[in-house]
This record gives sequence, structure tokens and C-alpha cells, in this order.
Amino acid sequence: MSRFWSSIVHSLTPYVPGEQPKLPNLIKLNTNENPYGPSPRVVEALKAEAADSLRLYPDPNADRLKTAVAAYYRVTPQHVFVGNGSDEVLAHTFLSLLKHSRPLLFPDITYSFFPAYCRLYEVTYETVPLTDDFQIDPEAYLRPNGGIIFPNPNAPTGRLLPLKAIEGLLEQNTESVVVVDEAYVDFGGESAIALVNSHPHLLVIQTLSKSRSLAGLRVGFAIGDSALIEALERVKNSFNSYPLDRFAIAGAVMALEDQAYFEQTRNAIIRTRGRLVEDLCALDFEVLPSAANFIFVRHPGWDAGELSQRLRELSIIVRHFRQPRIDQYLRITIGTDEECTALVKALGKILGLRCDI
Ligand SMILES: Cc1ncc(COP(=O)(O)O)c(C=O)c1O
Repeated sequence: MSRFWSSIVHSLTPYVPGEQPKLPNLIKLNTNENPYGPSPRVVEALKAEAADSLRLYPDPNADRLKTAVAAYYRVTPQHVFVGNGSDEVLAHTFLSLLKHSRPLLFPDITYSFFPAYCRLYEVTYETVPLTDDFQIDPEAYLRPNGGIIFPNPNAPTGRLLPLKAIEGLLEQNTESVVVVDEAYVDFGGESAIALVNSHPHLLVIQTLSKSRSLAGLRVGFAIGDSALIEALERVKNSFNSYPLDRFAIAGAVMALEDQAYFEQTRNAIIRTRGRLVEDLCALDFEVLPSAANFIFVRHPGWDAGELSQRLRELSIIVRHFRQPRIDQYLRITIGTDEECTALVKALGKILGLRCDI
């Protein structure tokens, strides 16, 4: 605390990201990163970018990247906004499209950056409870609101809302913007980008951090009607002209080009997820259906906080949220087959079971 702080700083509760410990031999299943490196073609593109041209500012509009995103999703570049990670795209969205006199609505259990942005930008909000089995109930959002936002699949539950249900919500809620945060959609969902042309109040946000394995490069984007994109551009250009550096633009363009590598690594993660779910069920864990690169689990006989601590003692970190309704759950990122096998063995040991895997 300091008398030099602006008044808003006193009222902030900043988002706390999952830890990034520097310990050797750690199995890190806590921040939903991709266990495989980025495409080798991306690495080559980044090396080529380390050149004299770094003395020049990057393209403030990142036109090459917008064109690549537009071509990939069959929209026009005027439908695309790009930012420094989808967190930055989300932040601009809260300020430019979701701050109104009526409250913003989002699930009670969801990405914990949402309430942090609301506090930063003084957006009034109400949370809408997930059902008892942690699903989003679109009917519950049919009330006066200044906007609706949810991740799909939701985080940290991993549960997917089918595209039909999103379409139904868009058709019944036409007076405010509906934002779908699709950070994890490539691992099992169907993107709502298909609905953008017919629904001018839909904004879909995606990231290259998860399925393209580029969390360290910081690239996210939004796709929506050109009027929504213009609002985001106005805020961006009042904040930072160059949110994407030359590396981010070059690497992201190549990541979208290397479709074969994307398919290969994404499919490997989906296969490993299937195996991990089976192995954990065999250890009596309850596992929510997941369309993401993580699973949300609990064990009826064990306290989640204690399980997380015991795993840590065995050099495996997973995410435990000390939050009402979910404090008995663990969120586990899908790692490589080897990492997941080590996790199952460690859990078998902790639970005191013999484990033949
Ligand atoms: C639901 C959700 N949205 C957005 C993000 C932000 O991703 P990034 O800023 O890396 O693009 C995350 C990161 O974990 C997430 O879980």
C-alpha cells in the first residue's frame, strides 16, 4: 500500500496465474500448456525474424496475421482482431463491449480473470450458477444484461456447451454482445465462428497458447462483426499500437500454416486424455466429461488439497482452486503419455493401491 496509488489500485484483486516453478524434473500439469513444443516450422520462422529488421517497429495492424486468421476461418480480415494473448483481447473486450449499465453475466465457476477485469474496468456483473453437474444452462442467461461471456469448453470444468445451445442463446439474447472464449475448443468442441456471419452480436475469442503450443509467444484473436472489431481496435489504439511484436506475428502465421503438425499434436493430446480418464476412473476418481486439454476430477475418499500437496511432494503439480463448490476438485492438464502414466502411478501410490501400469 502506498499513498501514491490511484484509488482503483486499492480495490483491485489481481488474477493469480498458475505457478511456473523452476525446479528440475518437475511434471507440470497445472497451467494447461501443450506438452509438445511448437511446430518446427514455427521455430524456423522465429529464427528468421531475428534480423536487422528488429530495429523497426512491427506492423501496428499485424495485417499478415489477420489475413492468415481470416483465411483459416473463412472470414474477411475486417472480422479479425489480434492481441497479445487472448487475455489482452479479453481485457479490451470487457472495456469496449461489455461495460454497460446493466450487469455482465458469466458463470459462477469460470475463468477467474473475468471478475478481475470487471474490477479493473468497473464493469458491474452477476454470476450465473452452473447446474449441479457443472453445465452452463443457457436459459439462466435470459434476463436483462449488458453482455454475456463464458468459455466454451468452460474452464476449469472442461464441459462443453453444444453449438446448437449457443445458437439458441444468440437468438433469444439479441440486445447485448455474447462473447464465447474458445481457448480450448480445438480439443473437442465445435467453434461458434460458424455463427459470426449470421449473428452480429457474437464475438468469438481464441488463443494460440494451447492447441498451437505458443503460450510463450502471446498471441490471441477475436472474430466477430466488423462493428465489434472496430470497437476493439479503438481501445487497442488508445492503449498500445504494437501489442504483437515481429516474432509473434511471424510465429503465429506459421503456426496457422502448419496444419499437419497441429492435427498430429492435438490428436495425441485427445488420445492421452482418453487413456488418463480410464486410468483415473480405475482409481475411483470421478471425472467430468472434458472437451479441453485438461480434466476436472475428484476422489470421494480424499481431500483435493491434500492430494495436490502429496503429488507436489512427488514432483507433480496440478491446479487446486480453494473456491466454493470446487474445492474438492483438481484440474489436471493433459501431458505426454509418459507424464500421465507417472501421474497415475503417483496417485496409485498415494491412494495406497497397487498400480500395474
Ligand atoms: C478460459 C481461458 N481463456 C483465456 C486464457 C488466456 O490465454 P492466453 O492469454 O494465453 O491467450 C486462458 C488461459 O489459461 C483460459 O484458460
